[in-house]
Amino acid sequence: MVQFNLPKNSRVTVGKTWPRPEGATNVRTFKIYRWSPDDDANPRVDTYFVDMDSCGPMILDALIKIKNEIDPTLTFRRSCREGICGSCAMNIDGINTLACIYGLDEVSGDVKIYPLPHMPVVKDLIPDLTHFYAQHAAIMPWLETHTTAPEKEWRQSIEDRKKLDGLYECVMCASCSTACPSYWWNGDRYLGPAALLHAYRWLIDSRDEATQERLDFLEDPFRLYRCHTIMNCAKTCPKGLNPAKSIAEIKKMMVERTM
Ligand code: SF4
Ligand code: FES
Repeated sequence: MVQFNLPKNSRVTVGKTWPRPEGATNVRTFKIYRWSPDDDANPRVDTYFVDMDSCGPMILDALIKIKNEIDPTLTFRRSCREGICGSCAMNIDGINTLACIYGLDEVSGDVKIYPLPHMPVVKDLIPDLTHFYAQHAAIMPWLETHTTAPEKEWRQSIEDRKKLDGLYECVMCASCSTACPSYWWNGDRYLGPAALLHAYRWLIDSRDEATQERLDFLEDPFRLYRCHTIMNCAKTCPKGLNPAKSIAEIKKMMVERTM
């Protein structure tokens, strides 16, 4: 039988309120999503108070401070702390973005932090990106050639190299795909903005020799054409990229090859 309401264990409850830092006068409130696979408890939102006078300027600084000084069980991904590894993507104040390059001063009032939306959760702020990475692998994110390899490197003109600007900078954070309603509803079959941006990056690489194969793979009612140009991807991308434009360019290539 079809179930129209959410299962009971998916309801987010009010969690623990942690103690305020003693003697601090400049304090901010953080409301953070918590869920653990280790018990049967529902997800909850815990409240933390952070002394801003001893905290760095970014959201990630506050998360690290909470983990180090208040609650070591708080779980999140991070590595580079400078917006290049893509691992600290989460939903901050309703926006999918990278915690390490999102300033605390960009949020007014309480800071609300959730995992990237519409993804299975591994723990707390960590989404399961297994399917997302498999979709990236499916578009063959590498140079595919049929002719004999040159003795040295595959050469590219400066103009052709420039065509990759605005594409190669993607850090695979998944902020765009998880902001896309089409991906929410059809993420099993629609590749989503991130994978399609990468597909376009290889389609227009002057050195690649698998253009028709790549287009054949994308010629599918779901893989490519579930993009309805909602544009959430371009709005949310923390690197300022425009996956929707890449998708439009692929659709144009599809039309051109039939002419
Ligand atoms: S296009 Fe932007 S939002 Fe999407 S995965 Fe790449 S860096 Fe992240
Ligand atoms: S920690 Fe690497 S992008 Fe944020």
